Amino acid sequence: MADILKNKKILLIIGGGIAAYKCLDLIRRLKDRGVEIKAILTRGGEQFVTPLSISSLTENKVYQELFSLTDEAEMGHIRLSRENDLILVAPATADLMAKMATGIADNLATTTLLATNKPVMVAPTMNSEMWGNPATQNNLNVLKNRDVAIIPPADGNLACGEVGTGRLAEVDDIISHIEAFFLSITNNPLNGKKIIVTAGPTHETIDPVRYIANRSSGKQGYAIAESLRMKGADVILVSGPTNLKTPNGVDRRNVISAQEMMEETKRTLPADAVICVAAVADWRVKEPKTQKIKKQNSAIPRLEFTENPDILKTVSTDKKRRPSLVIGFAAETENVTEYAKDKLARKGCDWIIANDISGDVMGGDENKVYLITNTGIESWPSMSKSRVADNIAQKIEAYFKEHQ
Ligand code: C5P
Repeated sequence: MADILKNKKILLIIGGGIAAYKCLDLIRRLKDRGVEIKAILTRGGEQFVTPLSISSLTENKVYQELFSLTDEAEMGHIRLSRENDLILVAPATADLMAKMATGIADNLATTTLLATNKPVMVAPTMNSEMWGNPATQNNLNVLKNRDVAIIPPADGNLACGEVGTGRLAEVDDIISHIEAFFLSITNNPLNGKKIIVTAGPTHETIDPVRYIANRSSGKQGYAIAESLRMKGADVILVSGPTNLKTPNGVDRRNVISAQEMMEETKRTLPADAVICVAAVADWRVKEPKTQKIKKQNSAIPRLEFTENPDILKTVSTDKKRRPSLVIGFAAETENVTEYAKDKLARKGCDWIIANDISGDVMGGDENKVYLITNTGIESWPSMSKSRVADNIAQKIEAYFKEHQ
């Protein structure tokens, strides 16, 4: 599947903040995603990163001077301001933002920003008092009113030794803002669709230190969340405990037990689609103990179980808020498609993705699945979980194209 960032052109304006060093990683990460980057390095930026490192990473010339005969002949500020899909100012200092707000054009960066007719995104960084100063906040509002997108600074330790708001957003966060921007201007049928994905195992408490769980790693659900996000969906990932990184731009809601997963899913409805990938524990301990069960307390404890709510079935049969597409998974070790067809009917969902878990699917990277709908069965060859996710996302995209 084509990456939303592939072949996009970004002009990066690097202001004079200590966080300019983060730009090096940002450039490398964007280049890995197929972005073409040109950079303007301001006088201030030059104090923190060198033109050589920027140009080595962008594999392009670095632009610095407004009155450079060669630069203006090769690529003047007007062309620089026009020949990109997006202009990103990172880090944006208080000074740079003030100049943008008032329209000062006293160097290559500010002149390019004044001359551009392209979308502009700004990632501010500064001392927290400077950030909170009404002058900066006024400038910020002016920029927002002119549709400049702001990547808010984060809280934490600042380079000046103080603590507060003003750290440059993390590179991951900047990238997800860029992705969201490009997704918002594409017309993919999944763009803006709200999709809930449940993923991972659930843990059911026995006592404060023990629980019952299953072997799900969450990999398949996370991969699906990522593929859908890459196609522009607003993805809410209701996740049981996993060790996985949240895919960029995905809104993850952590839960532990099946009951919590049910509650969070219900709270998040309505949605356009729900995909239940979680390996929810079928049962929970009826009366979990609030104190640790001691080993020396004579007899081996007997646990009494009770049934957990079935999230997939509840969502599928919700009379008022049933999403137009509900997809379940069926992990089976035998008679895979037979059991899955039965599950489709029992749970009332639209599709079942049945997987043969007789190998080491649980926790592994490969998956062999069947797509079962009311109209037939597709058998997909064994492939990586991320390919399975891409294929499922493509099917969902086709569904929404048909049911716009
Ligand atoms: O009944 P079974 O557990 O085999 O069904 C699997 C499908 O149902 C998966 O999509 C799983 O996420 C979903 N499920 C659920 N809530 C449960 C049990 C299963 O959403 N309590």
